[in-house]
Amino acid sequence: MSEKASGMSAGRGSVSSSGVRGGRRVTRYRLRLERVVPGGKMLGHLPNGKVVLVEGGYPGEEVVVRVQRERRDYIEAVVEEVVRAHPRRQKAFCPHFGVCGGCAWQDIPYSVQLELKRAIVEDAFVQVGGFTGLAIPHVLPSPVTEGFRNKMEFSIGDVRGEPVLGLHPRGSWERVLPLEVCRIIPVEMEEVRSAFAEFLRRHRIPGYNPHYHRGLARTLLLRITKEKALMVVLVLTRRDESVIQLMKQELYPGLRHVVSWYTAVNPKRNESLSQGVTFFHLWGERYIEERVLGLRFRIGPRSFFQTNLYQVDRLFDRVLEIAQPEPTDTVLDLYCGTGTFTLLFAPHVRRVAGVEIVQEAVERARENAQLNNLPNAVFYAGDVKRVLPRLIREGWRPTLVVTDPARSGMTRSVLQVLCQVRPSRIVYVSCNPVTQARDCAYLVHEGGYTIQTIQPIDMFPHTPHVENIVLLRASSSSLVA
Ligand SMILES: C[S@@+](CC[C@H](N)C(=O)[O-])C[C@H]1O[C@@H](n2cnc3c(N)ncnc32)[C@H](O)[C@@H]1O
Repeated sequence: MSEKASGMSAGRGSVSSSGVRGGRRVTRYRLRLERVVPGGKMLGHLPNGKVVLVEGGYPGEEVVVRVQRERRDYIEAVVEEVVRAHPRRQKAFCPHFGVCGGCAWQDIPYSVQLELKRAIVEDAFVQVGGFTGLAIPHVLPSPVTEGFRNKMEFSIGDVRGEPVLGLHPRGSWERVLPLEVCRIIPVEMEEVRSAFAEFLRRHRIPGYNPHYHRGLARTLLLRITKEKALMVVLVLTRRDESVIQLMKQELYPGLRHVVSWYTAVNPKRNESLSQGVTFFHLWGERYIEERVLGLRFRIGPRSFFQTNLYQVDRLFDRVLEIAQPEPTDTVLDLYCGTGTFTLLFAPHVRRVAGVEIVQEAVERARENAQLNNLPNAVFYAGDVKRVLPRLIREGWRPTLVVTDPARSGMTRSVLQVLCQVRPSRIVYVSCNPVTQARDCAYLVHEGGYTIQTIQPIDMFPHTPHVENIVLLRASSSSLVA
């Protein structure tokens, strides 16, 4: 591999070098990273004003970046060298930091991460939502920043004929980085992860090779509750009785925290477990049970559940505090998953309906309503854009709407119905402030809502992800200038 650098210069935003590497032209710039933007990239400018979106680095740093893609309006680049580092950079606590695709921000203190997340929410509401004069408060920190995840999907790959269990390295969905340890999962989960890694190695169970779509073992899905009850799902490309028997003989008796055992078959080319995967219960419980604010939630292998063990109570508590439910309220919980918010509101209101597209999640939600003896909570399976108008036709007149859509946000037709029905409050929870800001702008301009409260909360330490709660009220009082 030959590399020829030329034209080195030290000025802000100047071309540092350009050359040829492995037959491809490489361009580098030296520039100052100005601010963080949604998604966690840093923004800088070239002297000609062109925007550079940079992966890696922190605001205020002077860096040399390598151009990855040149678009018409901006350049995408990665940090290659930090010339002047953020004064608060620190040593990451994980030995895999920098290589593993998991935690990008471990090398900056948690307090700085929170400030960056606040800035991301602000950027979305100003740049995308067009809001001015919004005061975005500090992000509510996670009480614990290691061992906090209650769910993890580890990938199983193949390195020169040996099975390896770990996570994808940064920027690669094909390779698997074998892990010595993962510090963001609880120790009980870590014990199970390393037992499986050793088990796969000992029996040379072929790991999955995505290039040839070959191999047997693909994913190890682990879930855990606050009480340390674990669920294990070993995902294979086909059902394999000999592997199941080996698991029963060697792992089942020794892993005392595991109360629920599954295998699953994923014959597809992609790794996603949300569709096209069949789950088979093997031994123990079918569900693990989590408690949040005194409510019981049964969690199955496919159930969506907030992933931070120690922050979920606070998220729910804040949502309730912000919504201020009344005994006379009729509530709709849109995109309700397994009905967590639905059940949270049920004891405080007249009646509540959850709407969710995944039939299995709705079944779990109904079970959870029964488990908690909440007959005023009902659930409807289907797409919100079809079920919401139907519920309105059938006479539902929500006074409060809770909405927690997927990253893509709400569709235009759903927003239109909300603007027509005009519940007095809409509590909008989202893990994507960009689509949330877009939708809030629509509700403000087309529905006459005002933003009354914004509260970001951190469910995902060491990553650029941020959860955000917004209260919109159909009244004149507002935070918006
Ligand atoms: C971010 S999760 C929210 C889950 C729930 N609020 C909770 O905290 O457990 C988004 C949910 O929306 C569901 N969903 C996505 N698109 C949908 C649609 N068009 N109609 C109804 N539900 C949908 C997903 O299946 C998922 O359960």
